[in-house]
Amino acid sequence: MTEPVLSYPVFTLDNEQLLPAGTRLTPDILKEIASAGNAPETPHIHMLTHATVADDLREFCRQSPYDVIFSDGEQLDLLFRQMERLRLSRPLIDFLDFFREQDFYTYQHTLTVFALSMLLAHVLEDDAESAVREALGAPTHDFGKLCVPLPVLKKADPLTPIDRRQLEHHALAGYVLLTYYTGNPLNPAAVAARDHHERKDGSGYPSAKKLNDHMVEIVAVSDIFDALIATRPYRRGAFDTRTALEQITVMGEEGKLSWDIIRALVSCNRRDHPDYAECHISLEKRGTPPQGNLYGVTAD
Ligand SMILES: [Fe+2]
Ligand SMILES: [Fe+2]
Repeated sequence: MTEPVLSYPVFTLDNEQLLPAGTRLTPDILKEIASAGNAPETPHIHMLTHATVADDLREFCRQSPYDVIFSDGEQLDLLFRQMERLRLSRPLIDFLDFFREQDFYTYQHTLTVFALSMLLAHVLEDDAESAVREALGAPTHDFGKLCVPLPVLKKADPLTPIDRRQLEHHALAGYVLLTYYTGNPLNPAAVAARDHHERKDGSGYPSAKKLNDHMVEIVAVSDIFDALIATRPYRRGAFDTRTALEQITVMGEEGKLSWDIIRALVSCNRRDHPDYAECHISLEKRGTPPQGNLYGVTAD
């Protein structure tokens, strides 16, 4: 497979150019980036105890449709205990602080995708340790949005092809930055940042490769669902839960996403939370997408 090439430069949080546009991400370049970062020396911080993160996330979990998804209080407490274990280095915490200030939607999206990924991983995995591992890439999956101009992230009008290219840059930018900040191009956070818009049938980006990584796919499904149910400037309303799940079911029918994860998501959205393996998914489409939706099923 050919190595991906950066369409735009990648800047660090200190606004220093790490790599220019046009750089091919060869193993040698990635090795150089990984050793140039200061990963080992930076102290790590528990993400959930930082600032108002835990309170904010509790509040997001009370909002529809997450109030149904997280209606089991004991389970939610367990998920919080698992999420509390996650420690991030300073730059990764700075990413959260930046978006809390500058683009609250991206901050909220980051936290809800983390919580939903953790829940789906718990539903799908037999033991808690594997579940925690499966959700590790979630909190920083959109780290590369630091390299996307804020007006593009917040744009209410249809994106131009250039806007779209700038937005899609976040996948590789996140990969490069997280390789730099973690010191490892194979770190789950770096891999999830790079691959969460890839699909099983090779229809995604940045490399259009056939996604075959369960951890990344859990993040991808959570990402798509959260993007659909959110109120965004580019459409007149959010998708209701039913229509959002139907859109995701269509992606399953097209071979873009795995059925086990879709089933887990559907089961979490039913009030009685049935066993996901026995969760029947109707292929009938009765939902109505919101009017003026300019984005279709594209996450973000
Ligand atoms: Fe993304
Ligand atoms: Fe996302």
